[in-house]
Formats: sequence, C-alpha cells, structure tokens
Amino acid sequence: MSHNTQAMSERSSYYLQLEEQFGAHNYHPLPVVLERGEGVFLYDVDGKRYYDFLSGYSAVNQGHCHPKIIQALVAQAQKLTLTSRAFHSNLLGTYAQFITQYFGYDKVLPMNTGVEGGETAIKLARRWAYEKKGVPENQAKIIFAEGNFWGRTLAAISSSTDPSSYKGFGPYMPGFALVPYNNLPELEQALQDPNVAAFMVEPIQGEAGVVIPDDGYLTAVRALCTQYNVLFIADEIQTGLARTGKMLACDHENVRPDILILGKALSGGTMPVAAILADDDIMLNILPGEHGSTYGGNPLACAVAIAALEVLKEEQLANNAEAMGQLLRSELAKLQSPFITTIRGKGLLNAIVIKHSNPDASWDLCLALKELGLLAKPTHGDKIRFAPPLTITEAQILECVAIIGQALATLA
Ligand SMILES: Cc1ncc(COP(=O)(O)O)c(C=O)c1O
Repeated sequence: MSHNTQAMSERSSYYLQLEEQFGAHNYHPLPVVLERGEGVFLYDVDGKRYYDFLSGYSAVNQGHCHPKIIQALVAQAQKLTLTSRAFHSNLLGTYAQFITQYFGYDKVLPMNTGVEGGETAIKLARRWAYEKKGVPENQAKIIFAEGNFWGRTLAAISSSTDPSSYKGFGPYMPGFALVPYNNLPELEQALQDPNVAAFMVEPIQGEAGVVIPDDGYLTAVRALCTQYNVLFIADEIQTGLARTGKMLACDHENVRPDILILGKALSGGTMPVAAILADDDIMLNILPGEHGSTYGGNPLACAVAIAALEVLKEEQLANNAEAMGQLLRSELAKLQSPFITTIRGKGLLNAIVIKHSNPDASWDLCLALKELGLLAKPTHGDKIRFAPPLTITEAQILECVAIIGQALATLA
C-alpha cells in the first residue's frame, strides 16, 4: 500500500512521525495532518484547504466548529463542566426534557461514546427481558444483523462478523446471535425463540459501506418485533440526526424503535456525547446504582447537545441533506466512470464502489482526492464513503464532483 508520504511537507511529516513513534498503531489514516476546521472545510498544518467528505464518521453533521455549538461549549466550560451523577445539575433535567420532547420518548439515559450507547441499550433490553418478558435469568438473547458495526468494546466485537474487529480478542460475549441483514424470514425465525430480548440494527449499515435495506424492511422489522414481543433497538449513531435526509433514518418509514441510540453528531463533533431513549416501561427497569458513567450527562455535554440539536432544526439540515444527496448522486452518475460500479446512499450518507485491476485503487483514489483538496476514506477495501457536513451548498457539491472526476482520471 502506497503511503505517498514523500509528497508531504516537513511539518506534516514531523507530526505524522510523532504519532507513528508514540501512538499505538490501531488506525491507518490518510497521510494528512489537520489543524483547523470550519464548516465543510478542513485545513492542514500548511494551510491547505480540503472539503471534508467524512465528517468525522458523521459526527460533524452541523459543520466543523459550528459557531452556535462552540459558543454553547465555551460558555458552559467557563461555568461548570462536571458534577458526576452523585449530585444534580441545572442542565441535566433541562437537557432530558429537551431531548425527550425532541424525539418523542419518555426518558433519556445519557452516556458518552456511541459504543457505550450500544452497551447501555443491550443491558436495558436484557433487564427488560428478565423483568417484563419473563425470560429466565441469564438466558436473554440479543439478535444482530451480519455486517453490523457498533464500536470496539468486547460486547461490540462479539457481535461483529468482521474478523479484523474480533479476531484474536476472544473469548466473546455469550447470548448474541446473528441473522443476515435485510432478510425478514431469517429474522422471523430467530425471533421465535422466547428468550430473545431485542433485535439491534442500523437502519442503514454505515461502516459496512452504506448498505441500504429494501424499502419496507424497517416497517417489517417493527411489526415482527411487536408480534414476538421483542424490543427493536435502532442504532442511529451514524444514520441519525439529519444525515440521511430525515431527522432519523427510521423516519423514512415512519417507524418508531423501542430503544433509540444516538451519538456522534449529538455534539456536532465537539466531544463524545451519546444517549439512549426509551419509554418508561422499558427505561425504568434499571434502578439507581445499576448503570452509569462518570461523564454521562455532564453539564458541558448537556449544553452542547441542546445547541447541536437546535442547529439541526434551525438550519433545516435534513432537507439540505436530502437535496444535496440527490444532487451528489446524480452528478456522480454523470461522470460515467468505468471505475465506479455502484453509487448508493440516502441523504448525505453515500458510498461509491470502485472496481479496478489494482486492489489498492480506492486508497490511491483517496490519495488523489487529497492532493486535489477533498478528504475521503475507503472502507472495506473497495468502498469510499462520501458524507460531507450537511451544511454543504449546491455550488460546493458541484465543485466536489469535479474534483472526484479529476481524481478518477488519475486511476486509468
Ligand atoms: C452505527 C454505529 N454505531 C456505533 C458506533 C460507535 O460509536 P463510537 O465510535 O462513538 O463508540 C459507530 C461508530 O462508527 C457507528 O457507526
């Protein structure tokens, strides 16, 4: 795999080597060293400007350093940042009321990273199964879809079908089972087991390469979960918060999950903020002292999350994501590149699939894009996600497609 580091400035190489020498090698980043972000743009240490087509894996839906979110962050940081949940703060209740009304659930349980949101949802579903469904102690099962990605904890990798996630980290969490994604008969068969507590699924599989299920899949999942008294957990950490052209990806089918997991853009890319939302008959099965986190629901996170959610509505980012996504996909199709076999997506969560005799072609394409001022990253070898901040304009989309066309020309 070519690193193309020789094209880097001395300053960039210096920072890159520091990471290489003193940081664990658990990532393989594109060789670009960034120091500033504003809206849809990132700037490297030499001042070169790039379009951001990854948005921190959809954490930066509102655009980098959104002034309203940063203002909320700074103002709260100067006042109070952490109380722990040993005491109350004036912001936790305010935030809880705001976010539950925003999404229409009785209660919120605030956490930090997305993977903690997933862990929390699973713990809650297991507890509900024992308390409400009558599943015998320690027998609860959670069903996941093959190709899922929800983080890197031991529970998350225990449900993964990607060997690079789970291999060499066993033993794994018991009580998990898998069904193929977008396959209703197999799901129905799995749900018939009376010990199943929940089906946890991404409405669109993000890390798998923006895999979109058939129309009607989520509606049928909802109906099956209701029929078999199984909780429907929607992992909207990557698809939620206006990314796919609706506030939630489940909204495309007007489907309401029993447990909704949010993260990433809940802070507009400023800090780790995650949450799960559910109604009382589910959420109140966890009692004081049975779950928590030192930073979960901290005042700084509460202030930032309120601002981040307000921006989504004030700037109608779901509508813009829908319109700009359609424009992006239709303009990409017009390129008629022989190297693109598929262009797919919803709103501004998009991917192209690259076909080329060189197995490193997608990586090389991302290097070419970087040279031309656009940052994107391959996932699973041949797929490249195109997911800019939702504030992107029509003129910017057209400029980006022109850049992508130029980069594709270098592949020949
Ligand atoms: C769908 C989904 N769920 C969960 C996660 C985990 O979030 P975090 O990296 O904040 O733990 C991710 C991260 O990419 C994700 O895409």
